[in-house]
Amino acid sequence: MSSLVGKSVLLVVSGGIAAFKIPDLVRRLRERGAAVTIVLTEAAKQFVTPLTLASLSGNKVYDDLFSLTDEIEMGHIELSRSADFVLVAPATANIIAKAANGLADDLASTLLLATDKRPVYAPAMNVRMWLNEATIRNVAALRAAGATILGPADGVMACGEFGPGRMIEPLEIVDGLEKLLSADASATDRPLAGYRAVVTAGPTREPIDPVRYISNKSSGKQGYAIAAALAAAGAQTILVSGPVDLAPPDGVSVVRVETAVQMLAEVEGALPSDIFVAAAAVADWRAKSVGAQKTKKGPKGPPSIELVENPDILATVSKMKKGRPRLVVGFAAETENLIANAKAKLNRKGCDLIVANDVGAENEIFGGDKNRVAIVDKDDAQQWPQSAKGDVAERLVALIASRLATI
Ligand SMILES: Cc1cc2nc3c(=O)[nH]c(=O)nc-3n(C[C@H](O)[C@H](O)[C@H](O)COP(=O)(O)O)c2cc1C
Repeated sequence: MSSLVGKSVLLVVSGGIAAFKIPDLVRRLRERGAAVTIVLTEAAKQFVTPLTLASLSGNKVYDDLFSLTDEIEMGHIELSRSADFVLVAPATANIIAKAANGLADDLASTLLLATDKRPVYAPAMNVRMWLNEATIRNVAALRAAGATILGPADGVMACGEFGPGRMIEPLEIVDGLEKLLSADASATDRPLAGYRAVVTAGPTREPIDPVRYISNKSSGKQGYAIAAALAAAGAQTILVSGPVDLAPPDGVSVVRVETAVQMLAEVEGALPSDIFVAAAAVADWRAKSVGAQKTKKGPKGPPSIELVENPDILATVSKMKKGRPRLVVGFAAETENLIANAKAKLNRKGCDLIVANDVGAENEIFGGDKNRVAIVDKDDAQQWPQSAKGDVAERLVALIASRLATI
């Protein structure tokens, strides 16, 4: 049964060309059992008529903040509060800007400011409007305030240009809402029940000879905390761990490895999964040849070690053609230009999110119990306050759950 059965949707329609698809959206919402009340902006009325929408929704359509009869029948505050959720489709650049900045100069924007729900937006606009710095900032502000953004899709626009900005199809919007509702229903306890997660953690250890190795200062604490939080959220979690001094988290299967090559093999063996979190500090290089015996000090002075590149586990998983996890999260440990370097890494590796931490000497991230991270995706960068690694893990897992609910 659809999770929309019996739900009431307040649908705000703003003035984009994609408004011509709204009659279909209304029909689909009603097919799944939702009641729909519609608010139109003045601009929206240029693209779709109130009469069409009133007929299809079976409800009065609202468009005037100062209508005496509407205000007496159903005050604007009541309209914004009585719905189970608020959907803005299509969401123009203008209404997104107004909502992000708290403007309330017509019925639609006033409702968005007055609502006690976290609205869902289905943006639709020209590619240049979508990629404009102002829109990027506004969308990031809405996300930060808890709104969900469904789409937009890539494609040919009504104006003939190509790129991101097309509203996703009505059926995709309805599916997205259903997923959000199902996620909400179980959000209080195990939002990731039924999902599989693979996490890497710790350093890798690349041997030079039987007693020496190349490694790094990663303690594995953050990756272990993430695996614990994923398992607590209900995900079936496999942790592929480099050598660390930590107990296996409750409910997590731990696979121990030493080298990057072993780590990649175990990760590939643990896939497919819905979620992949690459928190391990994988050594970039390994010795080309590993001595069979301990290398002796001698008259020739120190030996030189030829290094070869290790496999790139994050990029390998991100770029998998078949069976790629739905959400791939990488880590970037940087000592300078944190956000810029993390964005570059996101693009290079092809992952969906980067957790960037500043591991400069003064921050004592390696081995410490606290972390200060920025979360970077293709549209946005959010700095989170310094907190315990367990708290960072829980917040990251909540973000993963909300992202999975909408993709
Ligand atoms: C033919 C036409 C198509 C438009 N399509 C869009 C669109 O798809 N997305 C958008 O953000 N604005 C679009 N606009 C501009 C908006 O209608 C304009 O910004 C308006 O002020 C939006 O008002 P509203 O957000 O209150 O509905 C379009 C304008 C015209 C004339």
